Amino acid sequence: MKTALTGIKPTGILHIGNYFGAIKPALRLAERYDARYFIADYHALNSVKNPADLRRAITGITAGWLAAGIDPERVIFYRQSGVPETFELATILAAFTPKGLMNRAHAYKAAVRQNTEKGEDGDAGINMGLFTYPVLMASDILLFDADVVPVGRDQTQHVEMAQDIAGAFNHNYGEELLKIPEAAVEEDVAVVPGLDGRKMSKSYGNTIPLFSTESALRKLIMRTVTNSQCVDEPKDPDGSLIFALYKLFADPGEQTALASRYRAGGMGWGEAKEELFRVANRELSPLRDRYNELVSDPGKLERILSRGTEKARAIASRTIKRLRKATGIE
Ligand code: ADP
Ligand code: TRP
Repeated sequence: MKTALTGIKPTGILHIGNYFGAIKPALRLAERYDARYFIADYHALNSVKNPADLRRAITGITAGWLAAGIDPERVIFYRQSGVPETFELATILAAFTPKGLMNRAHAYKAAVRQNTEKGEDGDAGINMGLFTYPVLMASDILLFDADVVPVGRDQTQHVEMAQDIAGAFNHNYGEELLKIPEAAVEEDVAVVPGLDGRKMSKSYGNTIPLFSTESALRKLIMRTVTNSQCVDEPKDPDGSLIFALYKLFADPGEQTALASRYRAGGMGWGEAKEELFRVANRELSPLRDRYNELVSDPGKLERILSRGTEKARAIASRTIKRLRKATGIE
């Protein structure tokens, strides 16, 4: 069986962009692949410097994966920090990574651009963790011989960098010591829009949190800005943010039916939002219940993660042995 691997950084609370763009596709892949999914906690340290915040986010993301239905008996579910081989491999890979490749990383370039726009020094506030982020991520992936990496579109450049780094390493030793991974992006959910129409992201503050209470969910949806078309006017579902979000939660029959009601006119935005809330809450309310139960038992979460981490280490230490031999370190 081929291997699928992905990670999520515990940098805040999960939103429906993470759920539809990363978690759900990953869980579907886990039915056909040997899956290894992890909490990318050291990646989070680049931006989360408050220990209580980091701990809370780790618990939240662990419970989030479990509430969404990950089966830790079938999927190796672990914490990056529990697999120190990751950091040894990152050191190995750094020796094969051109600095210029890191200069071209979107996340780094965006940070530099923001600084320059503000008239500050390009590298202001940018730590080496952010700059070398793609090396650590390549290490996460290559350590487990991953064939596919389910991610949202914003992460495909990182996976391509992992391919480049693995290629340079293999080329140097003249054998395929590291497997070349492929990104798996589900086109329908590659970019889940946020409440302001831009990509949903915690950095834009436009998210629908995955586990908000029913009343908070309703409020968020009702507050979403729409155009000023009145009730009678026919509406274009394809140009509508409310409909784009509806499609994520509704089955194909419901989507067709509601699209015709949009086009026919006679349905106002209030009602469109009500429909969105109904399907969203239908899917999210059982998840929310499981989530609330799980976060109330951190000991259980820790036990699940540490069992997965043990399994992950067994694989990781075999990879590192192979690479130590190949490089001449051993
Ligand atoms: P954020 O942009 O909110 O900081 P992350 O970068 O932590 O989210 O993303 C975690 C995972 O969720 C990644 O695989 C990413 O591609 C996916 N993801 C995040 N936002 C979206 C979105 N709006 N649409 C689709 N996938 C997303
Ligand atoms: N960079 C990813 C994100 O920001 C998280 C991540 C870290 C990851 N290591 C990974 C994803 C390895 C896939 C594979 O969302």
